[in-house]
Amino acid sequence: MTDYAKLAQDLDQRIAAAADLAALEAIRVEALGKTGAISELLKSLGKMSPDERRTEGPQINGLRDGVAAHIARRKEALESAELDAKLSSERVDLSLPPAPERKGRVHPTMQVLDEMIAVFADLGFSLAEGPDIEDDFHNFTALNFPPKHPAREMHDTFWLPEDPATGERKLLRTHTSPVQIRTMMQGQNKPLPAWIAQGQAPPIRVIVPGRVYRSDSDATHTPMFHQMEGLVIDRNIHMGHLKWTLDAFIRRFFESDSVVTRFRPHHFPFTEPSAEMDVQCDRSGGSIKIGEGTDFLEILGGGMVHPNVIRNCGLDPDEWQGFAFGMGVDRLGALKYGMPDLRDMFGSDTRWIQHWGFSAFQAPNTATGLS
Ligand code: DAH
Repeated sequence: MTDYAKLAQDLDQRIAAAADLAALEAIRVEALGKTGAISELLKSLGKMSPDERRTEGPQINGLRDGVAAHIARRKEALESAELDAKLSSERVDLSLPPAPERKGRVHPTMQVLDEMIAVFADLGFSLAEGPDIEDDFHNFTALNFPPKHPAREMHDTFWLPEDPATGERKLLRTHTSPVQIRTMMQGQNKPLPAWIAQGQAPPIRVIVPGRVYRSDSDATHTPMFHQMEGLVIDRNIHMGHLKWTLDAFIRRFFESDSVVTRFRPHHFPFTEPSAEMDVQCDRSGGSIKIGEGTDFLEILGGGMVHPNVIRNCGLDPDEWQGFAFGMGVDRLGALKYGMPDLRDMFGSDTRWIQHWGFSAFQAPNTATGLS
């Protein structure tokens, strides 16, 4: 006859001493598993006489229930201890000082550039880039500036010294328009990073942000500044496409649906017809407010890409037409944010940059806002 009390005591001790859930489970299998000690006792009931069964049955069942209940209690205790240990090991120390304020600020030019890129990306434009040091062909000749034409002088070009071997004089590009040529002349580019659109066959739809250089300095001119060029080449493109694109851009960039724009005929060698676009502004209070008042301010140039330019890039102007535009990034930023002197942009005064407070953690986008 089995000593149930001894078995119960033995199991109780071991259950109480089980250090973790795995050890407890091993005891459970040993006692209550298919071939466990208590399960075997239960099986033995079948072979007993009715009298024996009457006395042994309740004892074995009681043993089983007691052990099962003890295991369940111990399991709960072990689980809660395990959770406590986990929580205390993962605890966040709230007494730590807060992270220091992030002091770095995005330069207004870069902020404005990102705002422009966000708008044009939304309109389906991709990015193209070209070198700051250009040759005469890309900066002037291919863009339909005739040799010795006075328009070349108008650009106040910074020329580099003549290369004694070739007699060629390179220059600091005076505008981003040479990238129109580089983009259209497939295969003539130096390799550029893969994310930059380059040497594309039409249809082309690119914007070209970049630095440009002119020998000029006053409150509204700096010898280096930034431009954003746009180029669209496709079949059946006309001035209406240019006008809609620029109107859409200006409204989104200035974050106002009511800005009035005006197109004025103009001349650029590389577009025909050419136009300048003005925006409505108010000059009455000593500063310029865009989108108010009755004055107009010139903000960009554009037009239909001249057939000569298309031809110079090896494309057939009877098949491919396009529009192009160019605008000053710093200047548009100065207008949007009311900066009186463009030279501050490049003064490297960190207080000025702090003042505008553009955060790197708020990238301009058309979903949650540009600025
Ligand atoms: N490249 C011109 C400039 O720097 C701006 C410009 C005007 C660009 C008309 C264009 C354009 O693409 O079509 O003054």
